[in-house]
Amino acid sequence: MARTVFPAGFTWGTAAAAYQVEGSPLADGAVASTWHEFTHRRGTVRDGTNGDVACDHYHRFSEDVAQMRRMGLAAYRFSVAWGRIVPSPGAVNEKGISFYQRMVDSLLEAGVEPWVTIFHLEEPVWLARQGGFEKRSSVDHLVSLGEILFARLGDRVHHWITVNEPSVYAYQGYMTGEFPPGRKFAVRPLFACQHHLLLAHARLCAAWEARGMDGMIGLAHHALWAAPARPQDPRDCEAAMVMDELSNGSVLDPLVRGSYPQRALRRVGRFLPRTLDHDLPEMRRMGTYIGVNYYARYAYRWSRFMPILHSTEYHAPDAPRSAMWEIYPDGLYRILDRLRTDYGNPPCFITENGFPLAEKGGAPALDDTPRIAYLADHLAAVGRAIAGGADCRGYFLWSLLDNFEWNYGLSMRFGLIRTDFVTQERTWKKSAGWYTDVIRANAVDQ
Ligand code: GAL
Repeated sequence: MARTVFPAGFTWGTAAAAYQVEGSPLADGAVASTWHEFTHRRGTVRDGTNGDVACDHYHRFSEDVAQMRRMGLAAYRFSVAWGRIVPSPGAVNEKGISFYQRMVDSLLEAGVEPWVTIFHLEEPVWLARQGGFEKRSSVDHLVSLGEILFARLGDRVHHWITVNEPSVYAYQGYMTGEFPPGRKFAVRPLFACQHHLLLAHARLCAAWEARGMDGMIGLAHHALWAAPARPQDPRDCEAAMVMDELSNGSVLDPLVRGSYPQRALRRVGRFLPRTLDHDLPEMRRMGTYIGVNYYARYAYRWSRFMPILHSTEYHAPDAPRSAMWEIYPDGLYRILDRLRTDYGNPPCFITENGFPLAEKGGAPALDDTPRIAYLADHLAAVGRAIAGGADCRGYFLWSLLDNFEWNYGLSMRFGLIRTDFVTQERTWKKSAGWYTDVIRANAVDQ
């Protein structure tokens, strides 16, 4: 058995997002999000479920915080539902603020550090009606949400995540149509959306710094490991490099280097907002750390039929897969090592990593041994990167509870704790006990 020991003070947490756990999306003066609207449209969610109740965390958060304490979590990452706080442009809903204040208080009382995500893949319908993140005005709206949160929670919250996964929001919303606004192959809006989210990140960091607040602020990047399907084929290698630049470089380079990756620029430059060159110097603002959400490797093949990118995703028949993606722990090591070698070794946190298991036949699956194996392998990869000098300071497991997994719905389960979506009963899976032991030992065995 091999043991990986983590540095003293390494932060152990779990992560979640408002729409995925809270339920009661219209309670106490909240207005609808695009997810609320989207999930109530037929054919948008694979199993036909929605987030109307989800984990009922809106009413049961104290119970859930008690679970966190029992597990020994040092930190809990959660997001705010924008529409609970800002029901219309310029307005503030005190009841929404009070919900998050109570949540923060209850976490602090339990000795769990709150990490607040300002934007987690969820915008209010009123913003979407104005064109959403396609429009530059979205940047100001998101920054004012941040200002409200800094002002009203900033005395107790010292860890912030500005934006979760800009690339995913843009790609799923405007290319695959699996997320709201559900558009397909809308290339120009896709790049506008990502660009505005990155600009908003930079301005949120600037606003936070201007207030002289202590703590940390950063963006959670969806880091994927892009690999050629046939490494000996130069065209596959080129396809993988393009996809790597588009998914990783086009987020990290503006933030850290104030530039856009060249190979990607050659392919998609004509679709990027005209303000790119003007904005890049301002966008060069990482904050105080980089958040890494990592789940999988993607293999790419060169393809004549795919316009512009000339690349298609390829599933190798022998590659190990979860219910959603290819399992590739080494990708996490490589991403962290690349942050060290190519991006100046910034402080970083794993802001998400986790394993989906679909429940079949309604029987509660409490023995989630494959999840434990996945998590242990990925933690070992983090340990290797740290041993090699990467400045990784913590790990947030996705997720504490089974919750609403976006377009997959309630049946794709990521939790350490099983949620019974009928009775709302919470039951520890094998992985919950395992994670408790990892936290206690500050080490993982493989
Ligand atoms: C991320 C996302 C989370 C969660 C997770 C698991 O992309 O930020 O909200 O759904 O994936 O798929």
